[in-house]
Amino acid sequence: MKNSRRNFLKLTGLTGFGLAGNSLIKVLGAEPKILNKSDNYDFPEQAAGQSSRHFNMSGYSAPKLETVRIGFIGLGSRGPGHVSSMSYLEGVEIKALCDIVPEEVEKTRKRIESTGFKPDLYSGDAEAWKKMCDRNDIDLVYICTPWDMHTPMAIYAMEHGKHVAIEVPAAVNMEECWQLVETSERTRMHCQMMENCCYDFFELLTLNMARQGFFGELVHGEGAYIHNLLNSNFNKKGYWDMWRLRENSGRRGNLYPTHGLGPICQVMDINRGDKMEFLVAVMSRDFQMNDMAKKLAASDDFYKQFVDNPYRGNMTTTTILTSKGRTIMVQHDVTSPNVYSRIHKVSGTKGAALKYPLPAKISIGDEWVSDEELKAIEEKYTPAIVRKVGEMAKKVGGHGGMDFLENWRLIDCLRNGLPLDQDVYDAALWSAIAPLSEWSVSHKSKPVKVPDFTLGSWQMNAPVDLSLEKGGNTKVVR
Ligand SMILES: NC(=O)c1ccc[n+]([C@@H]2O[C@H](COP(=O)([O-])OP(=O)(O)OC[C@H]3O[C@@H](n4cnc5c(N)ncnc54)[C@H](O)[C@@H]3O)[C@@H](O)[C@H]2O)c1
Repeated sequence: MKNSRRNFLKLTGLTGFGLAGNSLIKVLGAEPKILNKSDNYDFPEQAAGQSSRHFNMSGYSAPKLETVRIGFIGLGSRGPGHVSSMSYLEGVEIKALCDIVPEEVEKTRKRIESTGFKPDLYSGDAEAWKKMCDRNDIDLVYICTPWDMHTPMAIYAMEHGKHVAIEVPAAVNMEECWQLVETSERTRMHCQMMENCCYDFFELLTLNMARQGFFGELVHGEGAYIHNLLNSNFNKKGYWDMWRLRENSGRRGNLYPTHGLGPICQVMDINRGDKMEFLVAVMSRDFQMNDMAKKLAASDDFYKQFVDNPYRGNMTTTTILTSKGRTIMVQHDVTSPNVYSRIHKVSGTKGAALKYPLPAKISIGDEWVSDEELKAIEEKYTPAIVRKVGEMAKKVGGHGGMDFLENWRLIDCLRNGLPLDQDVYDAALWSAIAPLSEWSVSHKSKPVKVPDFTLGSWQMNAPVDLSLEKGGNTKVVR
């Protein structure tokens, strides 16, 4: 089955997809090829590598789109929710739906039948999505497939003149991270990784509080993905082709860093005033995954392929130092039976915030503020986006409303020609934490330099604009 994944990458033609002669690849000293995950460790030199810049995509305003015509790829558990959420927005046309499994396409078509959209359907083979990207009446390709397909699909779509929205993480190795940056800059197509947790209500609140100086100088942030997916990962009827189990049984590190990290990076203006310097990752051993594989294999031969694989450990803790001398901790545990947590801790010289365990709390000094004070803080610091679409987002839903907020904001920016909140440098950097942590783990937690995907522009790039002073006029139509 692992071979089928590699064949997919070959099929996409991305083993030599027009980067020949590209200065980026020359500087990195690597042939443009898709790395096998097991090859993907020896890259501190790449990580430190620099390339020439085509164009700065941070703060880039693409031409306004009155109507955003969208094609979706990947309609498993995640994709259909985005299709549905987009169908609520003014100026959106759902043009095409694609999944390798015809039944998934049909289910999603039915789900939005009442909205009046009649998307064209693509299915049946591993490359049907390319035909969709080849069309010239689609503006945005929205990718919700397994992780290792994200970059190949995004690159093909950008090369064919489409903006891309990619589910998390955007890339699985360092070469892919750089490829996204290079392609987005050269084509001037937006490449947004859809880190929905940046749009959760408390995360947005703390971002606004940080902007207004509530926390004083920021010192430290923490994020995590602690979510018990042990049974889901081993469920034959779950993720397509067991893709998530395969990821977790061959790569050893913090494989899913972006949910916890994204909001902290926005609070700290990473890539827009500060940047990451290096990281160190420490991983526990695997206490449960291989045991589960053995237990299942005892009565079902299907699971024999998963016995004695090099599983990542239950817990990986990654620590990052920034240029301004701040620290960030990111944890990953999707096996142990914990209560769900993304931590979301923001700690400054004047105050702190902590979201998990729920309920979220704020402190000034040594004690949490009272419920009354917390309410007053919320009233004062709730950002414009939540005031405008927060209630509607809660009604439409999607992880409590954050999915709707992220989609509304993306469409509003595209329709008004505004820079996106998460640009390709964020997509690359936040995704890169996974392969960098894998490298550190496999080298006894040696520090590894975090590359500056902005190539120095972080010193000039403007922070994410929370004000809604521009745009903010996209209506909810149903
Ligand atoms: N942001 C979030 O809160 C959140 C939540 C869940 C999942 N995700 C992300 O969404 C993505 C998808 O996860 P999921 O849970 O929906 O997985 P899934 O396995 O349920 O769905 C993946 C879909 O991709 C389809 N697919 C596979 N190969 C394809 C191809 N060549 N062409 C077209 N379609 C193809 C599969 O048939 C399947 O329907 C992942 O990146 C995951 O990390 C994000």
